Amino acid sequence: MLETHGSLASGVARLGTETAFSVLARAKEMEAQGRDVIHLEIGEPDFDTPAHITEAAVAALHAGETHYCPAAGIPELREAVAQELSRTRGVPIPAQRVLIANGAKPFLFFTILATCEPGDEVVYPDPGFPIYESAIRWAGATPVALPLREEHDFSFAVDELRERLGPRTKLVILNSPQNPTGGVTPAGDLAAAAQAILETSAWVLSDEVYARLIYGEAFASIAAEPGMLDRTILLDGFSKTYAMTGWRCGYAAVPDALVEPLTRFFVNSTSCVPPFVQYAGVAALTGPQDDVTAMVAEFAARRDLVVDGLNALPGVSCLSPRGAFYVFPNVADTPVGAEELAERVLEEAGVAVLAGTAFGAQVADHLRLSYANSQTNLTRALERMDAFLRGL
Ligand SMILES: Cc1ncc(COP(=O)(O)O)c(C=O)c1O
Repeated sequence: MLETHGSLASGVARLGTETAFSVLARAKEMEAQGRDVIHLEIGEPDFDTPAHITEAAVAALHAGETHYCPAAGIPELREAVAQELSRTRGVPIPAQRVLIANGAKPFLFFTILATCEPGDEVVYPDPGFPIYESAIRWAGATPVALPLREEHDFSFAVDELRERLGPRTKLVILNSPQNPTGGVTPAGDLAAAAQAILETSAWVLSDEVYARLIYGEAFASIAAEPGMLDRTILLDGFSKTYAMTGWRCGYAAVPDALVEPLTRFFVNSTSCVPPFVQYAGVAALTGPQDDVTAMVAEFAARRDLVVDGLNALPGVSCLSPRGAFYVFPNVADTPVGAEELAERVLEEAGVAVLAGTAFGAQVADHLRLSYANSQTNLTRALERMDAFLRGL
């Protein structure tokens, strides 16, 4: 027998993962053993998908929308997305530049694969969504971390971005509102970042999946800055805004030059997003938005509850984030390190949270909590954490 039988490709070692899924698995294991666990680890809205969206999918199923459809997306959804993005980002986007995929995630992976190779540098936020670094490494490109500092409200400093740009920069990944910190990049910083990026030949991947989850201020996209639309992959989706994480549907407006290559990645991998899911997407974008408005208001109330509660815990301090549904408290003054704390809060107090290190190397002293859970559960979680920390 050959010694290499059953061996993996060496590239697999370069592929990262999302720690949230392993913590979720451990929490589920504890629940199976009869433990009560409060879930603040996973990043998904706890609301049901609005009923009119589900009904649109059911109607499409009954109408026989159960076959292959165009890899780039059905024309109705591409058109609805083009109108939504043009309206909300304030820059005209034609439907031919809109692509539909199975969530926002495939756009992260395929954009990086379609544009980056060994020798290229990719600037990405740290802390940041772990899939960015994973996909950069998989492509063999060099990840260049752009720090998001607490003293800068968890947005990047334009000077630090500028220092990281150069002739080898192939792609800059930005994300606002941000996972894991809830940070929002101010419009002025986006304009300055755009100017700096325009001096290079880099693409920009602007991950805007939390664009609607923003509290008390207008959302700004770098794609709307002069000259940026032609080099920006503007990414959004249905998962967070419409509580549709399990439907697996996302969309992007991409530069003309990327429409065909990205579509080819879809043809090579998933073929298409199920058409009945895409009809649900049309209903989401064109139907009533009251459920979204109500969700955002509830998230804002939960954010205040969690931030106040965390700031009352011994050794914990927490900024009030301006977007998404995450808080990123600093736990440097607790007697144990953040990683040990995350583990023990789960095992000993039954509250599932993540250590900031799940999102990058810059953030040894933080936890990430998702407040996509009921106010009752959030209050219980805070009480448990308080009792745990006071007992240390
Ligand atoms: C910043 C960010 N981008 C992309 C995604 C992926 O979203 P989707 O469910 O649309 O693939 C997530 C999910 O957590 C996220 O936090």
